Amino acid sequence: MSLNFDPDFSGLNSDKFPQDFVWGVSTAAYQIEGGYCEEGKKASIWDTFVSKKGNIFQDQNANITCDFFSRYEDDIRLMKSMNINHFRFSISWSRVLPDGIGEINEAGVQYYNRIIDFCLELGITPWVTLYHWDLPQALEDKGGWCNREILTWFENYVTVCAKHFGNRIKNWMVLNEPMVFTGAGYFLGVHAPGRKGLQNFLPAVHHATMCQAIGGRILRRLVKNAHIGTTFSCSQITPHSHKKRDVKAAAKADALLNRLFIEPSLGMGYPINDVSVLRRIEKYIQPGDLKKCAFDFDFIGIQNYTREVVRHSFTVPYLRAKIVKATKRNVQTTLMDWEVYPPSIYEMIAKFDAYAGVKKVIVTENGAAFHDQIQDGQINDQERTRYLQNYISQVNRAHQKGYNIAGYFVWTFTDNFEWAEGYYPRFGLVHVDFDTQKRTIKASGKWYSSFLKSFSKFE
Ligand code: NOJ
Repeated sequence: MSLNFDPDFSGLNSDKFPQDFVWGVSTAAYQIEGGYCEEGKKASIWDTFVSKKGNIFQDQNANITCDFFSRYEDDIRLMKSMNINHFRFSISWSRVLPDGIGEINEAGVQYYNRIIDFCLELGITPWVTLYHWDLPQALEDKGGWCNREILTWFENYVTVCAKHFGNRIKNWMVLNEPMVFTGAGYFLGVHAPGRKGLQNFLPAVHHATMCQAIGGRILRRLVKNAHIGTTFSCSQITPHSHKKRDVKAAAKADALLNRLFIEPSLGMGYPINDVSVLRRIEKYIQPGDLKKCAFDFDFIGIQNYTREVVRHSFTVPYLRAKIVKATKRNVQTTLMDWEVYPPSIYEMIAKFDAYAGVKKVIVTENGAAFHDQIQDGQINDQERTRYLQNYISQVNRAHQKGYNIAGYFVWTFTDNFEWAEGYYPRFGLVHVDFDTQKRTIKASGKWYSSFLKSFSKFE
């Protein structure tokens, strides 16, 4: 195993970050809440997807998960005790609007009101994601992201959230990783709702892009002093060799994985010249749409974990490119089989900051799953601690270089439900015993907490 970067901890001195740099933790409703049918909530596509055999590792589900639904006060208190002052969570659409449209579930609204108010009471700034993959099942029954009517459904949902929470929530992210929920959910079928093929993927992509801008416009109109962003998954792409065809394959993967959603949101249209199969998206684009895909976001959230090495392939349809698995490359990997490659986060900050229309970049997710062992009630997760230190050093390198990087959120606060992988990969700074719901701060959590404390000397 080779370490293909120089660990550099000099970037970890708090005096090297600007004083207003935002440090936080990120979560998502379906992964932490549980309470899947409490107080009027109806099913989302994830509730349905997990209930079908074979979809999730060991057929697990998130009906309870870390029970943030009833334990939010204790968890937010724990967060505060760890010096974490920014908390990113998502709103479950089907908790607020159980049928996706129509009647508002007052109990659902009250639930989020309590979370928001409790954060504010403790001096924690809430950051809200409007859509982190849990579409109401009732809307999927009508075609979900493939049905153009989602433009109206989403507009209504965002309006409800803006009106109820906008007086206290100022930091908003419209979508979480549209490439992942359309790619895994509507092309590969490995995430909810489990649909496959270009005929599902392409309309879902276009409608998600439209909704991203629609959401931004509604927040701008209804929320005073809103700070509006959206988030993208991204990975540095390295060609497997210098051969022309590998370089070309890497460029195509980059267009698909890193550029497909940001470029239309900046008014640049889809990267159809770089991935010819994307041309078929034109079938779903109506006159005037491309203009409506653009929105002037205040920040772009980037979510980086790894890099991908890509080579040419004769067999992969449409793309003629394939990822060379990290496990075949003799490099350090996490439990997700993702390569540990800190310079990737630097490259992604540089890449997104370079777009003329991007005002600033915030790392809205970064973190790692490793085997955590409890010994004498302690979790000494040195690999995760090193991972975070090395990635944060690269964030600092980007800042020193002059890129406009304004914040960093660890994925994630407590161990939780990792989608199709279930509970096996633990990403938390805080360990959760899923039998007893006991929380234990890991060594990485203690490190992050003391790192954040070192900033208080400036206050
Ligand atoms: C991206 C997603 O937003 C989040 O839900 C997921 O758990 C993490 N990455 C880790 O895979």
